[in-house]
Amino acid sequence: MTTKLNENELWLLSFYRTSEISGALFFGRLCKTLKSSAVQHDMSKHFSDEAHHAWLWTDCIAKLKAQPLKLADSYQDQYISAAGLPANIMEILAITHVFEKRVIRQYALHSRVPDLQPEIKETLSAIMQDERWHLEWVKNALQSMENEFGKENIEQALQRFLQADEEVYAKTMKEHEERVHGLGILAGR
Ligand SMILES: [Fe+2]
Ligand SMILES: [Fe+2]
Repeated sequence: MTTKLNENELWLLSFYRTSEISGALFFGRLCKTLKSSAVQHDMSKHFSDEAHHAWLWTDCIAKLKAQPLKLADSYQDQYISAAGLPANIMEILAITHVFEKRVIRQYALHSRVPDLQPEIKETLSAIMQDERWHLEWVKNALQSMENEFGKENIEQALQRFLQADEEVYAKTMKEHEERVHGLGILAGR
C-alpha cells in the first residue's frame, strides 16, 4: 500500500482530524450542561458537525492510503492555556468565534494549494461550508446576549481571546503555515 500523501500533507490532515475531534468533544460535553434554548439547539448541530468532520478527515486519509498520525495537544487546548478558562457561556461563545475564524482561515489557505488531490479538495470544501455556519450562529448568539452580558463585555472578551489567538498562532501554529508553505504556496494570514 503506497500512500499518496507526502509528509506535510499527512501531518496537516492528521492535525485537522485531531482538532475536529477536540471540537466535537468540547462542544458535546458543553451541550450536556445547557438548558434547552436556541444555543443548545445550535450547539448540538455544531458538535455533530465537528464529529462528522473528524470522520471526513479519517476517511480522506484512508482513501489516500495512509493512516492518521497520533498528535499531542490540539489547538483548542493551547487556546485555553493562553487565555484562561472561559467563565460563562458568553465567553465560551467568544472564544469559539475567534477559534472558528482561525479554522476557516487555515482551511482557506490550504484550499489554495495548487494541484490539490481531489479527495482533499472535496473534504476541505464540504467542511468549510459547515464552518461558515458555525461562525454565523455563534455571532448571532453573541448578539442576542448583549442585554444580559453587555455589549462592551462581549467586545472585551472577543479582544482577550483574539490576543490569545495571536499568541498561540505565533508560538505553535507556525508549523501549520510552514507545512502548507511546503506544499507550494505563499502562505498568508
Ligand atoms: Fe469542523
Ligand atoms: Fe467548526
